[in-house]
Amino acid sequence: MILQNGGLAAFPTETVYGLGDTALDAEAVARIFAAKERPASDPLIVHLSGLDQLPAVARSASPAAQTLAATFWPWPLTLVLPKQPHVPALVTSGLDTVAVRVPDHPVALALLAAAGAPIAAPSANRFGHTSPTTAQHVWHDLHGRIDVILDGGPTPLGVESTVLDASVSPARILRPGGVTAEMLEAVIGPVVVLGRDFESDEGLPSPGLLETHYAPRAELIFCQGPGAVQALAAELGAALAAGRRVGVLALDEDADELAQAGAVVYRLGADLSSVARHLYAGMRWLDAQGMDVILCRDFGAGGLGLAIHDRLTRAAARLVNTEEIH
Ligand code: TXA
Ligand code: MG
Repeated sequence: MILQNGGLAAFPTETVYGLGDTALDAEAVARIFAAKERPASDPLIVHLSGLDQLPAVARSASPAAQTLAATFWPWPLTLVLPKQPHVPALVTSGLDTVAVRVPDHPVALALLAAAGAPIAAPSANRFGHTSPTTAQHVWHDLHGRIDVILDGGPTPLGVESTVLDASVSPARILRPGGVTAEMLEAVIGPVVVLGRDFESDEGLPSPGLLETHYAPRAELIFCQGPGAVQALAAELGAALAAGRRVGVLALDEDADELAQAGAVVYRLGADLSSVARHLYAGMRWLDAQGMDVILCRDFGAGGLGLAIHDRLTRAAARLVNTEEIH
């Protein structure tokens, strides 16, 4: 099969498409970094077929980590744990910890079963670009650089897994994602949450989290705070007056009004799970329509809202925070 012969495979997970190769083979892992043009300072997530593979990559797991793995896997929860010495340093960017998860997707699980070994896989996009939620997105970013794309249709969740540092106590959410802080806290009690309890510029909580990420080509303007809807309308008016083509990532309830005001509207749906599922596809679609500017407002910080807020903040060329406007 392709992985055993030194090839790279893109595959769907429940979150986004991954670009995988054998995790315990340093040369294989190097190919992933080369295809993505990813800096070696950004560590990869190791995907497992099940809990039974955990000892192959993690040296230990705290009782809380074991409870979370038993409760949530297979699901979009990545646990950062002390690593086994034989996990290549390139996978973990030289850290003493390794990030692991069991994906909840039949194609990913079939690939892991066929490989019979853990698979290291970042999202299957060029470094810094929007993560891919369809096989077409992967093709757009990586064709000619990888050997196969397993097409499983659009990914159901649409944003990446939650990355939880379970090597410290209390555990820290380094990247909010599909498994929400509320879900984790219901199982293990209080966790420390990036974006809620600390900000990413306080020290270096996770390598790879500081760069601008997930960014579309167009200038993304992210409007936050109590006046976000009005701020977005003002930005739309100003950009149209300046002759710029403006796209908006909008809830269904806001879509008609924004279209009447002159925006090209991409409908994200009516609730947070629909917003998460369509967010990256919307950024790519508006890019493909040749937009100069993409506007989006905040949808709150509860549940999946925190992950959506995190991705929009990293993707944004400019933040408009109406909390700061008096
Ligand atoms: O949903 C997902 O997690 C997708 C699918 C393909 O599984 N994968 C994904 O991988 O989003 P990637 O490489 O785009 O993001 C992995 C992030 C890194 O940027 C880094 O922030 C964090 O996981 N990470 C990995 N290893 C870590 C470690 N040892 N300590 C702290 N953070 C780590
Ligand atoms: Mg990524």
